[in-house]
Amino acid sequence: MNIIHFKKIKSTNLYARENLEKLNLPVIIFAETQTGGMGRMGRVFHSPEGGLYMTYVDRFEAPLISMIVPLGITEALIKRGVEAGILWPNDIILKGKKLGGILIERVEGVYLIGIGINCNATREDFPVDLRERITTLKEETGRKWNITELGIEIIENILLFIHRQEYIHSLYTERMYGIGKEYRVETGGRVIKGVIKGVTKEGHLILETPEETLTLPSATLWRVA
Ligand code: BTN
Repeated sequence: MNIIHFKKIKSTNLYARENLEKLNLPVIIFAETQTGGMGRMGRVFHSPEGGLYMTYVDRFEAPLISMIVPLGITEALIKRGVEAGILWPNDIILKGKKLGGILIERVEGVYLIGIGINCNATREDFPVDLRERITTLKEETGRKWNITELGIEIIENILLFIHRQEYIHSLYTERMYGIGKEYRVETGGRVIKGVIKGVTKEGHLILETPEETLTLPSATLWRVA
């Protein structure tokens, strides 16, 4: 496995995309901080120093990759005593707050798997409007985390899961956050309210509304208070 390390970069996913031809695959690109961290749906991913920011770049086939990557993260954290869960499709949640996120891109048959986890920063390192909604490993455990070691184990877990796909659906369901709770869901240009029931074997969200049970391949969720 090749490793590239940056102290500061705009975004490890962007770097991977712009340098894809030159990269020696497989490679993990780490950055200590990102000035333009990218989230899903064009959102910003705040990336202060002390976080784990990495993009794993490799060529393989894994239709369940969007379930495999969050499981790679939860299993590494649970092994270290942190009871993290997954808010569909792939936010990492700890005690109801966002601990990390995942941005998976596919370019010419190559996966760019971007992972961001709030590790050694504190809430004060994030914009005021986010502080109530996010948490960090340091805040929750009171200790400093070895970022590189955690990152490498997450990638190792992902590689293991790619070859053990039979476990993915049941383990993902077990780790899923928000089952039985009501969410506002934006999908295909409309907003609906429903209760999360689980995921299908393909990783689609199962949402029960008063009228029907839907399976949604993609959507954005907000908790109804
Ligand atoms: C999200 O929560 O919407 C996804 C966040 C993904 C963040 C990671 S950090 C490393 C990689 N580089 C990026 O610019 N984004 C991903």
